[in-house]
Amino acid sequence: MKLLTIAAILGLSSLCSAEVFLHETFSDGENWTQRWTPSTHRADLGTLEVSSGKWSADADKNTGLRTTEDYRFYATSTKFDKPFDNKDKDFVVQFDVKNEQNIDCGGSYVKIFSDKFEPTTFNGDSEYNIMFGPDICGTKSIVHAILQYKGKNFDLKKTVGAPTDVFTHTYTLVIKPNQTYQVLVDGEEKAAGKLEEDWDFLPPKTIKDPEASKPADWVDDAEIDDPSDIKPANWDDIPEFIADPEAVKPEDWDDDMDGEWEAPSINNPEFKGVWSPKRIANPAYKGEWEHPEIDNPEYKLDDSIYHYTFDNIGLDLWQVKSGTVFDNILVTDDVDQAKKVRDESLALAKEEVKAKDAYDEKEKAKLETDTPQPPSTESDNEPIDIDLDDLSVESDTKEEAKEEVKEEAKEEAKEEIKEEAKEEAKEEVKESKPAKDEL
Ligand SMILES: *[C@@H]1O[C@H](CO)[C@@H](O)[C@H](O)[C@H]1NC(C)=O
Ligand SMILES: *[C@@H]1O[C@H](CO)[C@@H](O)[C@H](O)[C@H]1NC(C)=O
Repeated sequence: MKLLTIAAILGLSSLCSAEVFLHETFSDGENWTQRWTPSTHRADLGTLEVSSGKWSADADKNTGLRTTEDYRFYATSTKFDKPFDNKDKDFVVQFDVKNEQNIDCGGSYVKIFSDKFEPTTFNGDSEYNIMFGPDICGTKSIVHAILQYKGKNFDLKKTVGAPTDVFTHTYTLVIKPNQTYQVLVDGEEKAAGKLEEDWDFLPPKTIKDPEASKPADWVDDAEIDDPSDIKPANWDDIPEFIADPEAVKPEDWDDDMDGEWEAPSINNPEFKGVWSPKRIANPAYKGEWEHPEIDNPEYKLDDSIYHYTFDNIGLDLWQVKSGTVFDNILVTDDVDQAKKVRDESLALAKEEVKAKDAYDEKEKAKLETDTPQPPSTESDNEPIDIDLDDLSVESDTKEEAKEEVKEEAKEEAKEEIKEEAKEEAKEEVKESKPAKDEL
């Protein structure tokens, strides 16, 4: 009984101290626009909408914030429910990303800011505390984990690959007050360790002793010539080449005209090569000289690298191909709460393959039944103009990208023909109006 009570109290107290500073699910229609502030830094930012995308496991639960325009920058941010000072606390940032557009080049990461952050002027140069999440361009696909320390940004030195498929993935960064961290993708640990070791925040703890140098008499030759191996006396008497003993002076050789005849040289079969003494282990060998290390006078332990005050989170993205859906943006000091939210996302993500298949089937069927046959098949054969330079992808994916763009262009062409056919049908019904051809 007693134990149970204690456990209950402990459980309760840990529950009470755990806090969620932000959990944005975009599940209340247009209300997100009251919480998120678009940057006004530039006029041509891409438009965001709440949507679960073309397909989803659960249209309500998977509704998130979606990028809708290609070749656009996006910049918008929201304030936490309350500021988060993570001194002596775990810090967790987590969110779901679905790149259902088959992203060729685009970021889908978040940036987390202090209370000095200015939402309306938010741009790529705005100072942040943490930048975290996937970034895909061509064959490069990584999960960034950039931390700001004393005004400078530092990259995680370990490489974490970002999934490039079209399904939802959950990204988690945990930073603990004992200055350790974890990067999780779909709950799986992809990188973990000590902040100090995996980012170059601090100068190295030790350096090579500038006072020390290799002693002049240091023997670092592992082998020497065998002093007891003596060159045989007659070695040098054997020439490398000799006159060919089988050569015969040509009959018509005229010593007066042609000069004195000499037999051509051939390799001497007796020749033993250039003599060199045998090599033996050097008895005086001391091994490789190692430069002794000393404590680096520049190094100063800092046990507050992990410590920030956070107040805002934002999306600052460039996307060539839009359609990314962000959801469940969570900032908390509660690792367990993050896991709970994540597990729900992962469970839904498992259903996505089915959802996508169903969507693909439906699209196919729609095309087959709805599409009126185009007046001629020309449009199918017309070359589709693609400016490959507009695709900022690596050359080896360009072919794929080209195919994709072509397919898309075809789809669009079909859609257009469909729309035109509909329009024409409408026009025809309204007989009083002039026919399209006469316009
Ligand atoms: C949006 O916000 C308004 C005002 O706060 C509220 O009355 C309304 O219920 C919200 N809409 C949804 C869908 O939650
Ligand atoms: C840091 O703290 C976590 C618990 O929050 C613990 O599991 C881990 O072993 C600690 N690591 C170090 C290096 O102290």
